[in-house]
Formats: sequence, C-alpha cells, structure tokens
Amino acid sequence: MTQTYDGTPRANRTVLADAAGVARHAAAFIVDEAARTSGRFALSLSGGSTPRLLYELLATPEFRDQMPWERVHLFWGDERCVPHDHADSNYRMTREAMLDHLPIPPDNVHPIPTDTTPEDGAARYDRTLRTWYGRENLDAARPLFDVTLLGLGEDGHTASLFPGSPTLGETFAWASATDSPGATNVAQPRITLTLPAIASSGTVLFLAAGAGKRAILRRVWQGDHDLPSARVRAMGRTMWAIDQAAAG
Ligand code: 6PG
Repeated sequence: MTQTYDGTPRANRTVLADAAGVARHAAAFIVDEAARTSGRFALSLSGGSTPRLLYELLATPEFRDQMPWERVHLFWGDERCVPHDHADSNYRMTREAMLDHLPIPPDNVHPIPTDTTPEDGAARYDRTLRTWYGRENLDAARPLFDVTLLGLGEDGHTASLFPGSPTLGETFAWASATDSPGATNVAQPRITLTLPAIASSGTVLFLAAGAGKRAILRRVWQGDHDLPSARVRAMGRTMWAIDQAAAG
C-alpha cells in the first residue's frame, strides 16, 4: 500500500481499548518483528510517558522470554540533555521500567550521551549510529533501525522534532542537538534523531493514548506538514497504535 499523507492508510491504524491495550499491542508487534529477523535487531525507543507501560510489559516473563536479547540493540529516538539519573531522563525511565530487568548485553544498549554539551552528545551519538550501521550514508535498501517507536506530542512534535525547528530541515546528520519549547518558554536542550535517520526504519510505530492527543492526531492523519509527526516516513510502514480516547 503506497504511503499517503492525505490520510494515513486505515490499514496502518490500530485502536485499542486503553493505554494498557496499546502497550500490549506494541509489545506483541516488537516480539513478532524480532522473530522475523535472524541477525541484529535494532529497536529505537521513544521517550515520554506513553511507552513506559510498554517497556514494563517487555520486562515481564510473558514478553521478555520471547525476545532474542543477545541480538537486540536498543537506541533512543531522543533524549533530554540531563544526567542519565535525572528524573527527566528518557534513559532513566527506560532503565527503571525495562533495562534493569532484561538479560540484554550492556554493549547492546546505546544511550544518547548527555555527559557533555548537546552538540558534542549529538555528534557522538551520530558517530555511534554510523559505526553501528557500518556505512557513512544510509542505504535505501537497508534500514538503520528495524523498528522505531515514536510518541506524539500535543503540538505535533515527535522525538524532539518540534514544529518550526530548523532541525526539521537537517538532511545529513542522523542526530542533532535541538531545543524544546519549555512550558515556561525556557527552551530545554535536547538531542534527537533527524527525519532522515527516522526514515531509515523498517517500520515506524507511533504510540498515542489519551483524549489530549485526539485533535493533533486528526491533523497529523490529514497530512498537516507543519507538524513534524506528519513528516515522518519509514522504509516500510508507518503504523499507529492508539487508544479509544485518542481515537475519539
Ligand atoms: C520525549 C519524547 C516525546 C514524546 C511525546 C509524547 O522525550 O518527551 O520523545 O517525543 O514521545 O512528547 O509524550 P507522552 O508519551 O508523555 O505523551
């Protein structure tokens, strides 16, 4: 099915009863996708609150014991430029919800560096990605990530790609330093995957839950290109797992 942004194909949308249903659907999808591969399986993780239930579920025996953790490699779609033990850290959230409970080799976990300036952290993460991929340029026939999980902000951002950000125009870097418009309009430094890096995904799976996402979801599905989430592409499918509250 050709990917159109005049409306995400309905075949790529799954509506679940609630946030727990979204997490279970995503966990089953990830297990299935990993089982379909034989070599390394690269999973890029989303930050925020929605995926926490998913990460906790992946750490339960029901799903943990189905995953080939010895060949799974974990990356992040974005990170807040705070220490990895900071309450706002996406890495900390993932470590507490999942990593501490998995038999995954430490070398298979690739956090975004935040023990330096945002620019240096982005450059180091970009280098990690290119070294992992084994080439300096993305190959249209070979994805950087097998699956990329993304969230949807109420302003239409995803990862740390915010509306109007110059980072949206990045065509060479795979990771970039950027800023998020803070609640008090004090920008919070972030590091994010760029659109070309996200586009080098076998599948992108957006997770969205709650009535607060209903309005922005409509605009994204209608293809409003002012919204970074509407500009996301994948090599294969861009899929959505949402709950009834977000679906409206
Ligand atoms: C982050 C995320 C961000 C998130 C959305 C949705 O670091 O905050 O990467 O893009 O996915 O803001 O967040 P919620 O899941 O908390 O609604």
